[in-house]
Amino acid sequence: MTDIYSAIQVSDHVYWVGAIDWSIRDFHGYTTPHGSTYNAYLILADKITLIDTVKKPFLEEMLARIASVIDPAKIDYIISNHSEQDHCGCLSEVVGRVRPSKVFASAAGVKNLGEILHNDYVIQAVRDGETLSLGNMELTFMETRMIHWPDSMFTFLAKDGLLFSQDAFGMHLATFERFADELPADMLEYEAATYYANIVLPYSPVVLKALEKVAATGWEIRTIAPDHGPVWRRDLGFILDRYKKWAVQKPANKAVVVYATMWHSTESMAKAIAEALAQAGVSVKILSLNEAHRSEVIFELLEAGALIVGSSTLNNNMLPQMADVMTYIRGLKPVNLIGAVFGSFGWSGESVKDLETALKGMKVDVVAETVSVRHVPGPEALEKCHELGRTVASELAKRLSQK
Ligand code: FEO
Repeated sequence: MTDIYSAIQVSDHVYWVGAIDWSIRDFHGYTTPHGSTYNAYLILADKITLIDTVKKPFLEEMLARIASVIDPAKIDYIISNHSEQDHCGCLSEVVGRVRPSKVFASAAGVKNLGEILHNDYVIQAVRDGETLSLGNMELTFMETRMIHWPDSMFTFLAKDGLLFSQDAFGMHLATFERFADELPADMLEYEAATYYANIVLPYSPVVLKALEKVAATGWEIRTIAPDHGPVWRRDLGFILDRYKKWAVQKPANKAVVVYATMWHSTESMAKAIAEALAQAGVSVKILSLNEAHRSEVIFELLEAGALIVGSSTLNNNMLPQMADVMTYIRGLKPVNLIGAVFGSFGWSGESVKDLETALKGMKVDVVAETVSVRHVPGPEALEKCHELGRTVASELAKRLSQK
């Protein structure tokens, strides 16, 4: 085991012993241009406990960090807060090397781990609210189903006021800085929002319930230690307040115009629509899918009120990059959006109908008449696009005044 890696103390009895992944650029479809970390934590209690593990290729890095504090063979317990493979992928190897006396997970976690790892060791299920004595301190478990998977749970270490929150409050950001207060606030805001939009968004109703559930416990939380990105040890309101805001998804005076274009006709239409919106005082973001990634689209939608989508027709379909984004957005379930559709075509023009169907399927309220243009938009068609933009702006203003 190499000694180039070291653990970092994050509270009186807890060390970060995770791994930094500087190279990852795609996390199941979410682009991660700044890498990530897989955070595991070691609790130095009478019963030495490891909270979560790391993605399989990073096993040796984690074990080396543990070895900088204690002999890994001294670990008594392992807790799996979340059974996605970035946190449990090497669990079987860790169990084989460390030989802990017990491994714990939620009931759903036990089932998942069996199906993922096909392990032959016994994992003990813990219940919501159950406590586990580590001798001189105690852990309490809280189920947080669907943040991010059905198995997910938080674990609270009262002695240090430390909440192990697995995916919640995390971000995909590779840094040597282990604490949020060592990083610029605008970086934290952007990375946490991108992560929320791409990972947590569909579970927003569950997030609100989990925040209430945590508040009701009376736990004195001084540190939040997620499974990705930096540890929050100061100004916890920074991330908690943002989670509340993002989970509510209150619409804002912002429109996102997303398009895919073949010969710039759909692009001209997008620009005319965006001009009208901006002239009406709406904050507008235009994203060309010939360049922008799906992750950027959902990030921009996180605090928007309108989604306007356009595509050329290619072989009786919308362009494939638009189909990709519509599928991605539908899965992430943004709410409280109004929308509209536009597009161009050469001879058949199915893209706009398909986009209307897609928006309706996402429960986006389509508020303007679709504009569809054969070949290249002339002045009349561009005026129709402008009108579409004005209609969306006016409807958005109405909705915002009602909220
Ligand atoms: Fe970081 Fe849902 O795994």
